[in-house]
Amino acid sequence: MRVDHSPESMDPGSFYRLLTSVIVPRPIAWVSTLSADGRTANLAPHSFFTVASTDPPIVQFTSVGRKDSLRNVEATREFVVNFAPEPLLEQINATATDFPRSEGEFDAVGVEREPSSRVAPPRVAASPVALECTLHATLGLGDSTVVFGRVVHAVVSADVLADGRPDIRLLRPLSRLGGNEWGTIGQVHDLARIRYRDLPAGQGPDDGDRRG
Ligand SMILES: Cc1cc2nc3c(=O)[nH]c(=O)nc-3n(C[C@H](O)[C@H](O)[C@H](O)COP(=O)(O)O)c2cc1C
Repeated sequence: MRVDHSPESMDPGSFYRLLTSVIVPRPIAWVSTLSADGRTANLAPHSFFTVASTDPPIVQFTSVGRKDSLRNVEATREFVVNFAPEPLLEQINATATDFPRSEGEFDAVGVEREPSSRVAPPRVAASPVALECTLHATLGLGDSTVVFGRVVHAVVSADVLADGRPDIRLLRPLSRLGGNEWGTIGQVHDLARIRYRDLPAGQGPDDGDRRG
């Protein structure tokens, strides 16, 4: 048996809760921005976050409603995506509090910052990865705005590198699940993708056609 859910016959909040419970786990962009006057350094987690394009490298996050992060990006056209690691869970959650616009989360929560290399908003000093972005475009969708940022610079702490590459066990990413749930990394499986031409004969869905 399956239970049907139709967005037309549900209130938007209920459907949103359903979506965020089934589109899991979601990586978390801990987004730092500066106010238009450059005085307030803002920081907030966004789990509607992913890669939008590989070349050029563009990432995206979604602001549900018009929040300080979005307003700052619109005004300054710059932001930083800081990686959200497990040891910083409490701090990350504390930056999701709806502080007044004039109160930047770096100061309010006591998050240590460091200067970015290519953009004005600061990076989170304790975060192992920072992607410095310039605004590529925004896209309004209903009550939300998708922000696309071109990654102009990336820094990775040497502590999370193994053989020169970021290692998931050292990065220890947090994820957002449904409701107030957070995830941590579970078992990691290493399994190479199989190329079609390497499939043994007779295993493909349409084996007769594919080898020619
Ligand atoms: C783990 C987590 C993920 C979140 N993801 C989003 C998101 O993707 N989009 C969004 O608009 N708000 C999201 N929020 C809520 C914002 O972080 C929150 O509204 C915050 O106060 C916004 O800050 P700002 O007004 O300084 O931009 C999330 C909160 C948490 C704790």
